[in-house]
Amino acid sequence: KPAAKKTADGFTVVGSVAQLEQAGYLQTKQLAVVKDPANPKKLLAVNPKCTHQGCDVKWMAGEKKYECPCHNAEYAADGKVLKGPATKSLAKYPTKIVGTQVLVKV
Ligand code: FES
Repeated sequence: KPAAKKTADGFTVVGSVAQLEQAGYLQTKQLAVVKDPANPKKLLAVNPKCTHQGCDVKWMAGEKKYECPCHNAEYAADGKVLKGPATKSLAKYPTKIVGTQVLVKV
C-alpha cells in the first residue's frame, strides 16, 4: 500500500473514486469513507473506532450501515448511532474529490 500523502490544506488521499465505486467503501485504520445513501454524489467519512469500547466497526454495504463486531452497536453512514450500546456518534471528517482521488481531512 502506498503511503498516504497529505496535501497542503490537510487533506489526505485515501484512494481513487474507482476503488470506492468498486468496493462500496474505502477504509484505513484511521478512517472509513462511503457514499451517502441519501445522496450518492456526497461522500461521508468517519473514524471507524467504535465509541463504546474502541473496536473497529465494519461497513455493511448491503444494509448501508456500520456494525461493531464487539457488542453489536450500529451506526449510520454519517456516524450517527442506530443501535446501542454505543451512545456517541462516530467522529466525522470532511471529504472531497479531486480529479480521480478521494481525499479526507483527519
Ligand atoms: Fe463497539 Fe462495544 S466496542 S459495541
